[in-house]
Amino acid sequence: MAGYGSSVPPVEAFRRPPEETVQCTHLDAAMAKASCAKLGYFHDPYTDQLIRSRSTHSSPLIHRGYWSRVEAIRSTVLRFLQRAPAGGVQVVNLGAGFDTLYFWLREDPQRWREDLVYFEVDFPEVLSKKISAISRRQNLWPMLDVTSMEELTTRSSTGLREIRTKHCRMVQADMRITSELQQAMDVGFRPDVPTLFIAECVLVYMQSMHGDGIIDWAAKATTAPSAMVIYEQTNPHDRFGKVMVKNLAERGCPLLSVFDYPSMEAQKTRFLERGWSKCSVADMNEIYSRHLDQSEVERIQKLELMDEFEEWHLIQGHYFVLVASKGEDGWVQSVSLLEKGVEEN
Ligand SMILES: C[S@@+](CC[C@H](N)C(=O)[O-])C[C@H]1O[C@@H](n2cnc3c(N)ncnc32)[C@H](O)[C@@H]1O
Repeated sequence: MAGYGSSVPPVEAFRRPPEETVQCTHLDAAMAKASCAKLGYFHDPYTDQLIRSRSTHSSPLIHRGYWSRVEAIRSTVLRFLQRAPAGGVQVVNLGAGFDTLYFWLREDPQRWREDLVYFEVDFPEVLSKKISAISRRQNLWPMLDVTSMEELTTRSSTGLREIRTKHCRMVQADMRITSELQQAMDVGFRPDVPTLFIAECVLVYMQSMHGDGIIDWAAKATTAPSAMVIYEQTNPHDRFGKVMVKNLAERGCPLLSVFDYPSMEAQKTRFLERGWSKCSVADMNEIYSRHLDQSEVERIQKLELMDEFEEWHLIQGHYFVLVASKGEDGWVQSVSLLEKGVEEN
């Protein structure tokens, strides 16, 4: 694909979202996460089980980047679950791919809450593969509170297999269509319960109006104090940004909204204009060096030799974490990693 030397991508990139390629991005993420887990960056025996025997070795640079991504999302989720009052809490992982956060939460009573219902949404094609993988892994079934295939899967109104167990609902939708997303959540989603929405490397692959629609939908989906965390690419206009945009476009998964929201400030405004009352954002250089557990940073830095520091800082400067919240309660306003915690006040 030519024409990416300038800061604006060619019009072909915007014409039709290449759904199949975007769906495949879940595999890149899963393979990198499995590779990290094998080397001890973080605990995750599950991704590897879901993707089976695919080769999963990535570079130290990629491992470090994925570690900071996973750690930032996990920490935000934990802060939310630890702070939301008892009486029901929800996590909605939008474009979840093969993410295994549910199992990570469920395996440890310190992280788990009995009043949690966890939702995942993705395209039917991706969901179907994930459910097939889970079906083959009977060792995972107890964490889903089931003992048989009949209990594990349910057919949706369109005949597709979904998971709708006591604590976990894995459902399909093309989230660009808000009515589909809304309908998909008709599996026990409660508007009166504090909810954390996650979109990890998802919205950037959609045209802005679709991402805007999801941000807007999430803000209106509950009446309770709620939050949304996103992680994705930014800064497409500098030299590194142009290469990043070009590479992803050439792979068939262009960053469709990165030019409409080209900075963290623009992303912040995006959320504040769509029903979220508070929003904090930082790039991954700042998150890594100031907001993640520094003893963990020290530990993972010893796992593999990495000397590409210039490239490391460039990459991390082109990804960010944003946490938006709504509601007057102090606990929800302090969910972002960038905020001083309630207990630290
Ligand atoms: C880069 S992957 C990220 C997966 C997961 N969030 C993670 O970080 O491991 C993007 C995911 O978003 C999903 N996705 C993208 N656009 C979507 C849409 N319109 N509706 C549903 N899912 C979508 C893709 O199928 C894919 O699984």
